[in-house]
Amino acid sequence: MDLKQLNAFIAIADLRSFSAAATKTGLSQPSLSRLLKQLETDMGVELIDRYHRPLHLTEAGAFFYDKISAILTEIDTVTSMTQRLSAPSSILNIGFVPSVLYGLLPEIIAMLKQSNPDIEVNLKDISSYQQVEALKSGEIDIGFGRFAHQDPWIQQILLRHERYMVALPKAHPMAQVREQRLIDLANNRLILYHQTHLPMATTVLASNAISTGLTANTIDDVAKSSSNGLSSDSHLENKPITEPLLHLFAQYGISPFMTTTVSDLQVALGLVAAGEGITLVPASLQTVRTEQISYQRLLHENVTSPIYLHTLKDLVHPNIPHLLTAVYEVYEQRGITYRKQNFA
Ligand code: BEZ
Repeated sequence: MDLKQLNAFIAIADLRSFSAAATKTGLSQPSLSRLLKQLETDMGVELIDRYHRPLHLTEAGAFFYDKISAILTEIDTVTSMTQRLSAPSSILNIGFVPSVLYGLLPEIIAMLKQSNPDIEVNLKDISSYQQVEALKSGEIDIGFGRFAHQDPWIQQILLRHERYMVALPKAHPMAQVREQRLIDLANNRLILYHQTHLPMATTVLASNAISTGLTANTIDDVAKSSSNGLSSDSHLENKPITEPLLHLFAQYGISPFMTTTVSDLQVALGLVAAGEGITLVPASLQTVRTEQISYQRLLHENVTSPIYLHTLKDLVHPNIPHLLTAVYEVYEQRGITYRKQNFA
């Protein structure tokens, strides 16, 4: 068994066609067919059922595909890491989620450059979940995100927890209430914007979707018949709630009356400004659209959004310690309490 045979099998299985796989790999159809046959003979197992069109994987082939594609992805990751280890890039590629750009990120980058004029940085706007793949492929060296990752290749530092604020339209009856409780917000349309990419949450929301006429950038709308905001009669009851804002409400046994999911934070704040609902945002966002939006504190101290720094376990870019120093210097200047940590 060799890599050529395995890559041929993956290409045929992905595209379910010898001719499409030949175009993708640049090999001739007879070569591909020979590689697959050699692999099947070596293993003594039929992996692809050639008698149907499009081609089908056999049961054993489907099992092998799942396991071997994960191994091939790991080989790619290790190859790319080894190349980077032998010739580290002089540029520090930093991934970030948009919400940290409204906070301290610009100040941290300015501090990094001021203390280390030779360091070149490249900033990439990239969601927390996509950062894991981007770290493995070498697209970024470090990522600032809002979610913890359980991935054997990744190590992370929790920098701090940022409090969530409620964003309400200026004309909202509760816009001047200084300390808000989640239960008092439950009767409003809650605008969701996190790109969590967690399939269960999407399925639950989509299956309950009703149209509200908010089409531009609006992915789905969910209404429930209850208006008391309590989860006892919620459609989300006993279902996994993976959308971060819904998760915060659920911690208090609350299910918002109606939700709208949009593609990002800016769109969410645009809808709040237009009077279409309310949302929760990390405190550093409270300077955005202040003519139309009122930001108020939440009474609950544990309703927070963490800020994580992620990198690979076995490959720490030589400039990352300088970046961490810049983070801590900004925290000190701002009087933010923190615990000094370093990557292994
Ligand atoms: C912060 O607000 O703590 C922060 C923002 C961006 C990068 C690192 C930290």
